[in-house]
This record gives sequence, structure tokens and C-alpha cells, in this order.
Amino acid sequence: MTKGYSEQTAGAKLCIDLASDWASECIANLNIEDNLFMMDYGAADGGTASEFWGKIIQDIREREITSQISLIGNDLYSNDNQALIKNLSVHSSGNESVSTLICAGSFYDQLVPDRLIDFGFSATAMHWLNKKVETLDNHTHVLASNNKSARNDFLEQALYDWNQILEMRSRELKVGGKLLTVNLSRDHEDRYLGNNGGGTVNVHDQIHSIWRDLLQENLITEAEYKRGTIQNFYKSPEEFTLPLTNKASEAYKNGLRLLKERTVYVECPYKEKWKNNKDTEEFSIGLMETIRSWSRHSFDAALEKNYEREANPTDILFNRLTSLIRSDPENWSLDYVEHHLMMEKV
Ligand SMILES: C[S@@+](CC[C@H](N)C(=O)[O-])C[C@H]1O[C@@H](n2cnc3c(N)ncnc32)[C@H](O)[C@@H]1O
Repeated sequence: MTKGYSEQTAGAKLCIDLASDWASECIANLNIEDNLFMMDYGAADGGTASEFWGKIIQDIREREITSQISLIGNDLYSNDNQALIKNLSVHSSGNESVSTLICAGSFYDQLVPDRLIDFGFSATAMHWLNKKVETLDNHTHVLASNNKSARNDFLEQALYDWNQILEMRSRELKVGGKLLTVNLSRDHEDRYLGNNGGGTVNVHDQIHSIWRDLLQENLITEAEYKRGTIQNFYKSPEEFTLPLTNKASEAYKNGLRLLKERTVYVECPYKEKWKNNKDTEEFSIGLMETIRSWSRHSFDAALEKNYEREANPTDILFNRLTSLIRSDPENWSLDYVEHHLMMEKV
């Protein structure tokens, strides 16, 4: 049976919890005069942020204001939005002053009317490129590769996308409204999810090495090898703040301003558990499943559809990944590097 999103991503909840202090600050500084609209962009099944939103709603209600509160959950049409509304409705059921709503669609588009949102939030959702970059032909992840020209291409697309995301949010926010983003990022020592600076193996190098072995064993073709690219990019703090410092950006022109930013680190929860129980079987499967949850589609998409084969190369990839982790658990960990960015519309 396939596990739901929240069960497969223990680290994502920890990342959201670490942003609770800044979320409370955003809410405390809101001038609440009318009905209040909050939105969670790229919420998946909403389970990882349930405690986070519960605390925010409680903070607002403690202010004893008469405003009605609406919490809007967003994710793509293809998401399990049934699971999302179920998790969101925990906050509204039996609570007349709170409504929970779903807005299905892409956050690359404007999703709600101008000046509706008081507080926008997004966690670990905005690192996927909106348009495929197809110039990485010697690795499966651009940041782990030595391919400088592909890296520039990925960076260019990532910055274009980020400008667009912030432009849309700058339209949706009320004047005085706050936006808090929590995103997978790259720190000043070039650490990012999958690369903790050499403490353990670079997960992306390991994935690539298996994918290249599949080519050498003729289990995938040269074209499939080259297409096997994880289409995301982990931005640096400067890259995140660029649309807020560049006065010519649409987001800036619409009044979106930087309040503060920081980088936070979350150690791999699967590894932490393994350190205590030394259950290598559980660790290797748990870690593989979380990696598979965000990378599988990149490899499935690389495969020719009408090609007869005995075994699915993507299944082989993740089976081999599990074996590698199992054979050397000490040397594996998936530590998060997340960037927090607090913004206000003026
Ligand atoms: C890793 S999950 C994060 C979920 C949750 N925010 C958390 O932190 O646990 C990323 C989510 O972003 C969603 N997503 C990706 N691109 C999106 C887009 N363009 N518009 C809306 N949602 C998107 C995915 O469908 C997925 O559910």
C-alpha cells in the first residue's frame, strides 16, 4: 500500500515547526479589522502543517476579535485534494468563525483576487522548475554536477520562476499583509538537501552512480540516461531575496518588501531514529521512500513509454538505493537546509 505524503516526509513537518515563531510574529503584527484570509501554497495533504495552522488560529482567537477566519489550502489539481480538505477541516469543524477552503491550481498563476490575503505561507514546495531544462547530460542533479553551463541554465529558470511566484503573491496580498516562505535552499558552504558538506555521502552522487550503472548494463538507453534529471534548484539566500532588492522586479513594483531572512537546518529524522534503535532495515527503507517520494517522477518521465523490458529501471534504481543505505547506514543521512523569508506588502 502506498503511504500518504505526511507519513513519508517526517522532515517536512520539522521544517514547518521551525517557522512557527516567525509565523506568530507575522500574525501578531497584522492589523485585523475585517475578515481574515490565510493561504497555504503547495500544502500537499495538509498533515505536516496541521499543528502549525492550529497554533496560528488559536493565537488569532486569543486576540478576541470578531473577524471570521478563512484558511485556504492550495495544491495542484493532481494532488490528493480530498486528503487536504479533510486535514484542513479539523480547524473549521465545530468552529463557526473558521472556514476552510481548497484552491486547486498552480502557484505560478494568480490563484485568488487582488488584495485578498492577510497571511500567505508556503513550505518546501517552490523548488521545482516550471519549465524543463534539458541541458544537464552528465548527472541527475545539477548542483551535484560539475556542469557549469547547465547550472547557469537551471539558475536562470529558477530565478525566472521565483520572480513569477512572488509577483503573483504580491498581487494577492493585502497592503500590510505578510508572506512567509520556507524553502529548500543552498547555504554559503554549498550545502543543500542531499549534501551536508561531506558529513555523509552526497545522495545525488549516489543516485547518479546507480543511474549510470543502469546505462552501462543496457537497462536504460543513452537518451533515457540523459533525460534522467531532477528538475529542481535549491537557491542561495541572495537568489531568494533578489526580487525584493531589485526595484525593477514586478513583485517590488507591487509593493512586496523583505522583512527578514534566515537559513535553518534540520537533521535527518530517519538517521536520528536509527542512531537510537540501530534498526538498519527500517532506516534503509524509510530513507529510500522519502527520497523516492520526490525523485521518482523525474526518472519515470525519462523512460521511453513503449519499450518492452523485464524490469522497471526506476524500481531497480530504488531497490539498489535501499541496498546501498543498508550496507553502510552510518554514511547516509538526508539533512534539510531551508531558507525562511518573511515579506510584507506595503
Ligand atoms: C514537498 S511537498 C510540501 C508539502 C507541505 N507544504 C510540507 O511542507 O510538508 C510539495 C508540494 O508542492 C506542490 N506543488 C508543486 N508545484 C506546485 C505548483 N506549481 N502549484 C501548487 N502546488 C505545487 C506539490 O504538489 C506538493 O504537494
